[in-house]
Amino acid sequence: GAPVEVDISKLEAGQKINVEWRGKPVWVVKRTPEMLAGLPKLDGKLADPKSEVDHQPEYCKNGTRSIKPEIWVAVGVCTHLGCSPTFRPDLAPADLGPEWLGGFYCPCHGSKFDLAGRVYAGVPAPTNLVVPPHKYLSDAMLLIG
Ligand code: FES
Repeated sequence: GAPVEVDISKLEAGQKINVEWRGKPVWVVKRTPEMLAGLPKLDGKLADPKSEVDHQPEYCKNGTRSIKPEIWVAVGVCTHLGCSPTFRPDLAPADLGPEWLGGFYCPCHGSKFDLAGRVYAGVPAPTNLVVPPHKYLSDAMLLIG
């Protein structure tokens, strides 16, 4: 499949947009400073907090799993059996508990991921969500693939 250009100039903090790349949903999320501040607090609850399993390009092997801290790109497919997790940026929702700091919830079998797509320990999904290859053509333009 061909690479896909995404205009992120109108993406607002806290928002997610969906694009299609190679027949798969790809998410682009603009994280707020509060969302970024929550990521390190979750490390103890995650199966692979440092993303040691090779599910992202080398340039995204960092604490935010991204090139720019605020912008996060991921393949929106659960690493369990391929459902598409739901964006749940809300804090402490009734169904996910007071310690939820926002992330992605897979409705199929209950897997939970943080706002960098890192999987919680003890859920069916075995690994973090996949970060696809991507780069910035300019501040406003992202190229996926
Ligand atoms: Fe997501 Fe099973 S497909 S938890």
